Amino acid sequence: DETKAGVKGLADAGITKIPTFFFQPPDHFDDIDPADARLQIPVIDLRGVDSGGARREEVVGEVIRAAETLGFFQVVNHGIPAAVLDEMLAGVRRFHEEKAEVKREYYSRDSRRKVSFYSNFDLYQAPAANWRDSVFCWMAPEPPEPEELPLACRQITFEYSDHVKRLGNVLFELLSEALGLPSSYLKEMECAKGHALVSNYYPPCPEPHLTLGTSKHSDPDFLTILLQDHVGGLQVLHQQQWVDVPPMAGALVVNIGDLLQLISNDRLKSVEHRVLANNVGPRVSVACFFTMHLYPSSRLYGPIKELLSDESPPLYREILLRDFISYYDSKGLDGQSALSYFK
Ligand code: SIN
Ligand code: FE2
Repeated sequence: DETKAGVKGLADAGITKIPTFFFQPPDHFDDIDPADARLQIPVIDLRGVDSGGARREEVVGEVIRAAETLGFFQVVNHGIPAAVLDEMLAGVRRFHEEKAEVKREYYSRDSRRKVSFYSNFDLYQAPAANWRDSVFCWMAPEPPEPEELPLACRQITFEYSDHVKRLGNVLFELLSEALGLPSSYLKEMECAKGHALVSNYYPPCPEPHLTLGTSKHSDPDFLTILLQDHVGGLQVLHQQQWVDVPPMAGALVVNIGDLLQLISNDRLKSVEHRVLANNVGPRVSVACFFTMHLYPSSRLYGPIKELLSDESPPLYREILLRDFISYYDSKGLDGQSALSYFK
C-alpha cells in the first residue's frame, strides 16, 4: 500500500533520509565530466516550414544536423498554443497532488493497461529506483474511454494529445526528408500511428546527490516529444559529457528514440539522457512516445532498404516491436542501450 502512495507519499511524510533502494551506484556520479556549458541543444524554429521551398530545406538541414549528433533539439513556433502547454502541466500536477485514495484507483503495474499510475515501472529490475511518479496513457491509435482518464487532467489530455499528434506528423515528414526519403515514408511505416503520453512528477528530494529523478537511458520508441516545466534537470550525454536541456517557455524538446536509430541504420542517434533529482520541486514533465508496441502487429522493422549500400550494410536484424519492448522492460533502466541486443 505504501508503494501505491508513490515517491510523493514518501516526500509528504517528511523523511530526511531517502531509502537505500533509491541510491544510484556511486560510479554513476563520477564516471563522467561535468556538463560543458559551451555545448548547447539546438533550438529549431518551425515557422514557415509548411510554405516549402528554401525555408523548409533550411529546417530539414537543422533537423538532420541535430538528429545525427546530439539526438536532441528543441522546437519553437510548433503550433501548439502556450495555453495548452500550461494547462497540460497544470493538469498533471493536479492529478499527482490528489489525495492518495484518488490516485490509488489508477495504480497498476500492468503495462498492457491503457491508463495507469505507478512509481518506477522497473522497480524490480533496475539497479536503483528513481525519485519520480508517473501516469501512463495510451492515446493512439485507439484512445481510452474518457472515464478511464483521471478527471483532474481528462479534458486537457485529449486536447494536448491531438496537438502533439499533429506536430509528430510534421516532425516525421521532416525526418523522412532529412534521410533523403519521400516525406510520407516514416508515416507509411506507421511510426506516427501510435503514441502514449507519460506524465512525470518529481517531488522535492531531501538527498538529491544520492539518487536521480530518472536514471540514464535512451527511449524505446521512434520519437519523443517532451514538455517540461521551468525547473530543469534534464541532461543529455554527448561525447562523455552531460549537456543540460534548459527549460524554455513555450518550447518542446524532441529526441530520437531507439527504433528510429534502428530503422535509420544508425544515421539518427538515440542518445542517453537522465534527470537530476532536486531539493526544490515538484518538477513536472509530459513525454509523448511515438510507438506502436502495445498493438499486436506482425510488422517487422529493420534498417530501411533505401539507406543501405555496400558501404552501409544493415547493422540490425528485423524485429517485432513487442520483442523490442519486452527486452527493454525486462532489463529496466540499467544504463545500457537495448539496441546492441538486436545487432
Ligand atoms: C524521461 O526521459 O523519461 C523523462 C524526461 C523528463 O522528465 O524530462
Ligand atoms: Fe527518456
